[in-house]
This record gives sequence, C-alpha cells and structure tokens, in this order.
Amino acid sequence: MVVTASAPGKLMLLGDHAVVYDHPCIVTAVDLRYSVSIEVTNNDEIKIKVPVHGIENNFSVKVEKIGTSNTKETSFVEAAISAIYKKYGVTKGLAVTTNGPKISYGLGSSSAVTVATVRALSQVFNLNLTSKEIFELSYQAVLDVQGKGSGFDVAAAVFGGTIYYAGKGKHIEPLQHEDIPLVICYSGEKVGTVNLVKQVYELKQRRPNIVDSVFEIMHRLVDRAREALLNSDWDTVGELANIHQGLLDALGVNAPKLSELVFSARKGGALGAKLSGAGGGDCIFALYSGNNKDMISSSLLKANGEIIDIKTGARGVYIASVS
Ligand code: PMV
Repeated sequence: MVVTASAPGKLMLLGDHAVVYDHPCIVTAVDLRYSVSIEVTNNDEIKIKVPVHGIENNFSVKVEKIGTSNTKETSFVEAAISAIYKKYGVTKGLAVTTNGPKISYGLGSSSAVTVATVRALSQVFNLNLTSKEIFELSYQAVLDVQGKGSGFDVAAAVFGGTIYYAGKGKHIEPLQHEDIPLVICYSGEKVGTVNLVKQVYELKQRRPNIVDSVFEIMHRLVDRAREALLNSDWDTVGELANIHQGLLDALGVNAPKLSELVFSARKGGALGAKLSGAGGGDCIFALYSGNNKDMISSSLLKANGEIIDIKTGARGVYIASVS
C-alpha cells in the first residue's frame, strides 16, 4: 500500500520576525504543493527518493540511524520520520518519494514536505493523529533540522487557509475571507532564513528596547490587519503592509532588489507591497484593487521580477491517494 499526502506552501503576510518572539503573524497557505508517498517495506532501511533534486535510488539509511545522515535534500523527511518513530516506537523499513516544484521561491517547501511526511505516516501506521498533533510533531522535526523558527509555516501547511498565528502554535485562528487580491513576485534570490533570524536576534541583543518597540508596532499592525482582512478591507491591508515594509527595513532585513520590486509594484498602482518572510531575497507581494493587477505585474516584470501565479488560502495537508 502506497499512501500519498499533499501539503501546501505558505506566504507570510505580516508579522515576519516579530513572530519569532511570540508576537502574532498572518500567513496564508499557497497552492504550491508538495507530496510525499510512503510504503512500508520488509527490510530495516529507509529509502528516500527526491527526484526534483536528482536523488533517485541512491539514498538509504538504516532505520536506527534515521535523522543522522546530514543530507540536505532529505533532512526534513528524515526528521519527520525520526520524530514519529521515536514517539511511537516504530521500527519498520520504508520507501519514501517526495515530489513538488523544483524551485520553491522560499514559499515553504521544507515545512510542506515535513507536514506531508507526518500526515502520510499517520495514515500508514494508523496513528489517527489530530491536526494539532501533526503540527506539534512537524514543528519539532523542523526545529531539529534548522534550530530556529516560529512554526508559522508548519501551521499553514497543516491547517491551510489564512491564519492568525502566535505563541509557537498556542494561538492558531483561521481567518475566513474571500480570496486576497495579491500579486506574488520572486526576486530571483533564494536566501537562508536562519542567518537573517540570527541577524535580528543580534540586533535585538544590541538594541533591546528599540527592537522590542519595532516588534510591538508590528504586533499592532497584525492585529489591525486581522480585522481588515476579515472585512476584506484591502486599502487598509495595503497601507499596513507598506508600514510593515518600513519596519522590516529598520530591522536590516530588506535588500536592494526587494526594495526595487516593492517600489515597482507601488508605481504600478498597488495598494501596498512588502517583502514576505525573512528578507534578503525570496518573494514580495502586492495588493491590487479593481483591474490594476496587470499594471502591477508588468511593472514588476520590467524590474526583472518573476510573477508566481498561485492561489492563496490553499487547503491544508490531506491524503491525496492510497493505492
Ligand atoms: O523566510 P521564510 O519564508 O522562511 O519566513 C521566515 C519568517 C521569520 O519570521 C523571519 C522566521 C519564522 O520562523 O517565523
């Protein structure tokens, strides 16, 4: 029996960095999906295929050594398996295959793959894990690999939709609303989140009062944006996004390319635009109104941005097939 689970990526809307310090953020799941297929085998090995990264038949690890291979492409899958195996005392061999877009644009491939692995294993071993349990195990697995992170991306992959998230998962509130009118644009530069989180941590060590004040304002922006989102008040969300962009710049995580894209989107008529996530690169998003989506897109294309045409508010993890 092969079980396949599918989980969405994510786009951070507001609250980036502040959420690491337990302030809230708003994140939406995006329809850039990752799947993990798992079959139990009769040996003591875990074989993992990651075709998009050229790992076909050459990766296998003994069950008792799972999570220790230090292979970048398999690290999140291994950590997810290890978390489940430790907690539930599983010792079976597995054949695992992951699939998804080759380029992830910083839109949450690691969290999606981790969550899909946990969900598939829950099915394979009849663990009947609740969404909250899938979240906890997946978040632990992500922390095991990267050491830091608020877990907002894991929550988006588990629950889907658009979420108000705080307190490392203590507060997860789905925000019901119509589609968010967004243009998402990739800067062409992929960055590592961990270094930027560390950079902000160091700034906070040097200037605790100032950085805490910045986080407090972000907190207020997120709370106000939550209300605006619930009312589909896109003018307000756009204006709050612009203010938030300035605060991320103040924290030192903006980059020239991101600024160029943000200003291009605004020039094209966006209600607001900001970077999404850790900063340094990855994506920006812009809110459009009426029929100015194409104007914003062409302005971004002129600035050499890559438009990522994906839906927001995507469905959380689910079992895609059992065969
Ligand atoms: O760069 P991304 O998309 O992984 O987002 C990071 C967001 C941070 O708030 C900077 C870190 C976190 O774990 O919340």
